[in-house]
Amino acid sequence: MYTFQIYTSGTDVKHIMPISDTARHGQQLYQDNNCVACHQFYGLGGYMGPDLTNVISNRGEPYARAFITAGSARMPNFGLSTAEIDALLTFLAFVDQTGTYPLENYSVSWIGSVAQVDDPQ
Ligand code: HEC
Repeated sequence: MYTFQIYTSGTDVKHIMPISDTARHGQQLYQDNNCVACHQFYGLGGYMGPDLTNVISNRGEPYARAFITAGSARMPNFGLSTAEIDALLTFLAFVDQTGTYPLENYSVSWIGSVAQVDDPQ
């Protein structure tokens, strides 16, 4: 039944966002420096540091920049250049635009798909 559903339903992509060259550079830096060892996007990744899906809208760019520039007691300082830090922040802003994590109001359909429920207020 599930297979039937998978093969017969169209792909419901509401918006395909192009990724800029700078954001792609940031994505490469994110991989090269293994940020995923400690951080998650949408809950997936290492669990030593916080989830970064919405760090830009929740905490602001200067806050994120401070951590990436200097590290902290528990996060290493990667000695990145200003251009590299800018690229990482552009990548984080791109990820931020892709959705919200964790969802606060959601429903699970009988086939197991999850949909956001708009806030009633
Ligand atoms: C060894 C684990 C580790 C690695 C690798 C790491 N971080 Fe972190 N990061 C942390 C921890 C732990 C914190 C929480 C800071 C604290 O409480 O001291 C943090 C905090 C942050 C924050 C602030 C988030 C918030 O909500 O407070 C950002 C942004 C961030 N890291 C980005 C990055 C990026 C980008 C990379 C890769 C270049 C990276 N981190 C690599 C451990 C890591």
